Amino acid sequence: MKALVINGPNINMLGIREPGIYGSESYETLVALCARAATEAGFDEVECFQSNHEGAIVDKIQEAMGVYDGIVINPAAYTHTSVAILDALKAVSIPAVEVHISAVEEREDFRQVSYARLACFATITGEGLEGYRHGLKLLAKHLRTDA
Ligand code: DQA
Repeated sequence: MKALVINGPNINMLGIREPGIYGSESYETLVALCARAATEAGFDEVECFQSNHEGAIVDKIQEAMGVYDGIVINPAAYTHTSVAILDALKAVSIPAVEVHISAVEEREDFRQVSYARLACFATITGEGLEGYRHGLKLLAKHLRTDA
């Protein structure tokens, strides 16, 4: 089983950007956490991909077809704007979990819309970086039940 973790814009700035909201841990810490969490959940392989560019994220989702069994995605700001990322997730039909570090439901009105969510079987918010561990666990469970 292979998992792909996708992070959108400014997630590479973890630890520097708004630590009161996103915490003080770095993106490198998140990558290490995902590697451990994926192994714990039973994945043989995990790749972490981060981009600040919408098209690069769409490309990565398309390239995942036939390569990865499941996706954990935090589209970051593109969550609230990107029909292209939603369409890409729908196009490849790879089971996906949406993760947000912060409790988006408690934040501004413009964060209340999630396009990507429409193509995800679960959403995790407000658990900090641990949300990715949770997401990988749910993804593994879903893939095992589906198989
Ligand atoms: C985020 C929430 C988004 O609203 C925001 O634009 C982000 C990060 C989160 O992980 O909490 O960049 O996706």
